[in-house]
Amino acid sequence: IEQSKRLAAFQSVTAHLVPFPSRTRIGIGSGSTVIYVVEAITTLVPPTTLSTMTFYPTGAQSEQLIESAGLNLQYINKLPPGTLLDVCFDGADEVDPNLNLIKGGGACLWQEKIVATSSKKFVCVADFRKMSPALGTMWKKGIPIEVLPLAANRVLGELERMGSLGPKVRPGLPGKAGAVVTDNGMWIVDAPFRPLRVEGTSDKEKGEWQVDELADALIKIPGVAEIGLFYGKNGNQAGRGRAEAGGGVF
Ligand code: A5P
Repeated sequence: IEQSKRLAAFQSVTAHLVPFPSRTRIGIGSGSTVIYVVEAITTLVPPTTLSTMTFYPTGAQSEQLIESAGLNLQYINKLPPGTLLDVCFDGADEVDPNLNLIKGGGACLWQEKIVATSSKKFVCVADFRKMSPALGTMWKKGIPIEVLPLAANRVLGELERMGSLGPKVRPGLPGKAGAVVTDNGMWIVDAPFRPLRVEGTSDKEKGEWQVDELADALIKIPGVAEIGLFYGKNGNQAGRGRAEAGGGVF
């Protein structure tokens, strides 16, 4: 598995960064696969080109990753209004045939979505385990949803009403009391649903949803900050996206 992650990372950087030295503003996602993305960048990009590049993290983990690799670090809130990153590399928990993604297994989804939708190009770096016929087939823990702690019970109730099968607040690390607290001071609710329909009609009476319909409904729940459904190659992210989010290298 580690070899597959590394191979996917090296292929992604070879295809989407090395031939394009003009791509100088680069988003770096979170998780274990992006560790190999940073390794690939420092290995494959010549030092003179590397010195012209700036890297934008999606949370504390990728911030540390960028710093310890000696790369130029900058934060997404320093990007002038109307400016986009050139490319963003990030992992995923599950990928469907339309390149819709579940993300947030590492609790970094909010900043990940901000950086992804602030990028001209989004490259999903994922090993073979992540490919799935329908979201929710492989990643059974549920769709990660970042919520205001005060609203967690309200959100759980709403999710149950929408047909989620046992949504739960994600607990903290073993031995640590309480919930996981994100980089943004929020909690994560994991909401399992039946596998999401990629296209065609969904039967809501049976608790079936299409990706875009579910995303639209989830983001409207009061107390939800962001959802771990990344979808719509044309940048349609429940009304939040504007960049050309798409691509995908496996
Ligand atoms: C972090 O919150 C996630 O979105 C990660 O990008 C995702 O969980 C993939 O992580 P791995 O590369 O560790 O599988």
